[in-house]
Amino acid sequence: MLTVTKMAQAPLMKSILVLVAALYATANIADTSEPLQLAQLSEGFNAQQKYMASCFACHSTGAAGAPKVGAGMAAEWAPRLEKGMDAVVANSINGLNTMPAKGLCFDCTDADLRAIVEYMIESSK
Ligand code: HEC
Repeated sequence: MLTVTKMAQAPLMKSILVLVAALYATANIADTSEPLQLAQLSEGFNAQQKYMASCFACHSTGAAGAPKVGAGMAAEWAPRLEKGMDAVVANSINGLNTMPAKGLCFDCTDADLRAIVEYMIESSK
């Protein structure tokens, strides 16, 4: 009797396993595709060019309290970097007080913005 019941359940178990495997595969694809996308810079991206086009207006002069970029400006960035590079990049993506979201570079990806922020910090040593 027990064997019969088990056998009747076998197809059901099989479809559950297939379903679980399918879900697992989909979840895996979603997991791996996102960081790949994030790590990708836009085609023809140039951090310095984008900085000059979108960020320079405020960050060269320190307008509205923007941390200044340029040789010898490390002190402008040190206190900001204390919260970690990821937080600083997130603020440039989401905006922070009078710092507009994406620094007004609306065709910049998150990876582009990270590269620009790295460029800004590198140029401020
Ligand atoms: C309209 C002026 C303006 C523009 C344009 C602008 N910023 Fe800013 N940014 C600011 C101001 C003001 C702050 C300081 C915000 C604060 O701390 O209250 C700031 C702060 C930052 C910070 C420090 C964030 C932190 O966590 O302390 C980063 C990084 C940054 N901007 C990146 C960028 C990038 C990258 C661009 C261009 C793509 C850009 N900004 C364009 C005004 C601007």
